[in-house]
Amino acid sequence: MIKLVNVCKSYQLGNEEVKAVCNINLEIKEKEFLSILGSSGSGKSTLMYLMGLLEKPTKGKIIIDGKDVSKLDDNELSHLRNRYIGFVFQSFNLINRYTVKENILLPIKYSKTKIEFDPEERADYLMKRFGIYERRNFFPNKISGGQQQRVAIARALITKPKLILADEPTGNLDSKTGEEILNLLKELNKDFGVTVVIVTHEREVAKKTKRQIFIKDGQIVKKYL
Ligand SMILES: Nc1ncnc2c1ncn2[C@@H]1O[C@H](COP(=O)(O)OP(=O)(O)O)[C@@H](O)[C@H]1O
Ligand SMILES: [Mg+2]
Repeated sequence: MIKLVNVCKSYQLGNEEVKAVCNINLEIKEKEFLSILGSSGSGKSTLMYLMGLLEKPTKGKIIIDGKDVSKLDDNELSHLRNRYIGFVFQSFNLINRYTVKENILLPIKYSKTKIEFDPEERADYLMKRFGIYERRNFFPNKISGGQQQRVAIARALITKPKLILADEPTGNLDSKTGEEILNLLKELNKDFGVTVVIVTHEREVAKKTKRQIFIKDGQIVKKYL
């Protein structure tokens, strides 16, 4: 479903070029459940932003469903991001002036294309399934961290994406709640067939996924040391 071919991303810091990731060759297949494990600064978030089409590679190609995404214009790119990919972040990234339900429905609001299902019904279904339906009219700062992450996952799923990219999704949670969130992501992969990629610096988190990719100094390595 998504393939990275010799992908590099560098940032210009003054006169210096910082290579955040380089020579990445990675293919992720439909319905996979995998993690990208690496220490802080190894390039995990950069890799996730590249896969999520939030950043453009400085070198190499990203192919989604056989299409080279560099050939897409900004409209096509934002459409693909909105309908194909769902994002989950460490700090939840919910909007505090919107309720739980409004947060979940936000990607629908920003979608420029026709939605072929009832978004309200889907939001209710997801909230019930995730055990946050009773909190639907609460604001994010009035619910627990675990509940906030469930809201963020429901928001990521609202457009029925094929791919969920989660950057340190348990990083701000205690270990028990983190485990619940990982189990939820695992269930979604199994029941909805959505591809899940978890980015983490914790071996224990990576262990929960079916496949592990190790990254060090911006490169994929065979072993995690
Ligand atoms: N916007 C940016 N500008 C400059 N350097 C960056 C930027 N984003 C990331 N980097 C650098 O790229 C490297 C990888 O960062 P990052 O992808 O955030 O790693 P990780 O998520 O594994 O901690 C780091 O050295 C970081 O400082
Ligand atoms: Mg990071």
